[in-house]
Amino acid sequence: MDAALEYEEEHLAPLKKKAETIMSEAVADIAVIGLAVMGQNLILNMNDHGFTVCAFNRTVSKVDDFLANEAKGTKIVGAKSLEEMVKKLKKPRRVLLLVKAGAPVQAMIDNIVPLLEAGDIIIDAGNSEYIDSNRRHKELAEKGILFVGSGVSGGEEGARYGPSMMPGGAKEAWPYLKEIFQSICAKADGEPCCDWVGNAGAGHFVKMVHNGIEYGDMQLIAEAYKLMSVLGFSHDEMADVFDEWNKGELDSFLIEITANILRFRDEKGEHVLPKIKDTAGQKGTGKWTGIAALDFGQPVTLIAEAVFARCLSSLKSERVAASKLLKGPGVKPEEIVKDKKAFVEHLRKALYASKVVSYAQGFMLLAEASRKFDWNLNFGAIALMWRGGCIIRSQFLGKIKSAFDKNPALQNLLMDDFFVNVMNEAQTSWRTVIADSVLLGVPTPCFSSALAFYDGYRTEMSSANVLQAQRDYFGAHTYELLENPGTFVHTNWTGTGGRVTSNAYQA
Ligand code: 2AM
Repeated sequence: MDAALEYEEEHLAPLKKKAETIMSEAVADIAVIGLAVMGQNLILNMNDHGFTVCAFNRTVSKVDDFLANEAKGTKIVGAKSLEEMVKKLKKPRRVLLLVKAGAPVQAMIDNIVPLLEAGDIIIDAGNSEYIDSNRRHKELAEKGILFVGSGVSGGEEGARYGPSMMPGGAKEAWPYLKEIFQSICAKADGEPCCDWVGNAGAGHFVKMVHNGIEYGDMQLIAEAYKLMSVLGFSHDEMADVFDEWNKGELDSFLIEITANILRFRDEKGEHVLPKIKDTAGQKGTGKWTGIAALDFGQPVTLIAEAVFARCLSSLKSERVAASKLLKGPGVKPEEIVKDKKAFVEHLRKALYASKVVSYAQGFMLLAEASRKFDWNLNFGAIALMWRGGCIIRSQFLGKIKSAFDKNPALQNLLMDDFFVNVMNEAQTSWRTVIADSVLLGVPTPCFSSALAFYDGYRTEMSSANVLQAQRDYFGAHTYELLENPGTFVHTNWTGTGGRVTSNAYQA
């Protein structure tokens, strides 16, 4: 045997064999870490669409359980360690995390990164804060790893059969994810409810605003329910109203499920809804939206009110005590609302108009974040992502998509012709509902704040001249004259050389 052949047999052949073994092990298109229900369902969904998924979980016994039960008879493979998982992945490796937001996501990323190489992709599909995703995108980019933060909405059912997906982060990763994501996501009118959102934490930001809007939609429905209850509608009658609304412009998942909830009876044949404690929980995404709105100076009032309504709802014992002390208007509902049928139609329009305001506010926040972070968000695409699969899915989002498709630079949804007409058409009813609710003593924080925003937004000359004068009076903060913009002046309001009392300074 000549020397070259001998060398090959001794040194190269084993290496080749090893490489082949490694190559043959690399069977999976993507790994999913986190085998709670969302993770399991997303894996099964990917499997249904022909992708080979490698499943991993911190508690490894769950991998075996999953493979032996839910994943039995599928192409899904499992891994008992991160090292094994990485070996099973085709390159560039795609690793999707569905673990608890916060420290668990960070711990997982920290553990995987040393096992990956430049060009590999980590997708965080949990409910992480966009600020964390901004940071992770940057930190991982420095290591050559492509980070994608993806909103996923639609709950367990959505994950299994088609969620709305909002991926953002390192755009170079998108060509490697597009096919998987757009296969498994929901479709609306045949179009995938998933597209590239934007840079860095844009995906999680858009998901956060989605959740904030969800808080608003839910609260608006709850306010409509309360008004109808006070007017004496039975649960079945209200269910019929919601069913009817679901056939028109309010057609949406949340209206549909509310009708089902209203109709639902327990084993005693009694409605379940009035037996449920009137204290709402929250996981934080509505609050984050409110905080972002304040941070970016955007008047996202309806979502903030929806969050505060949940806070107020949680003061149950205090409310019970207050209900015995603090008096309401003491009127009979029939004195205020004479025609219940007409009121229901007013209510439908009030709900629709308030919803338009809520989405207009949500998109204002998205627009400001897009400007601030240079995300170049595509608002029409976002409306389409929310059109199906997610909790806020509705016909109405198709109208929003059309508005942004018609004019991608649209300054505000309320300025679109279609929505200008909606508001004109709805406003008398909207005002009637709010006026009646005030007279009845029924709180409608979201209906009311939406109308206050609408009236504020359409006001050419606001009352902020008073604020500016006050600020200049007590703090010499200066003001501009309408006739001379850009020049700031100070007035000596007291005629005492501009000196004011210390109390006034504290104001
Ligand atoms: P577990 O089954 O080992 O608890 C949802 O809770 C998912 O997040 C589960 O898959 C859970 O894994 C995972 N998870 C929770 N805390 C984690 C942590 N600190 N590190 C890794 N995964 C975690």
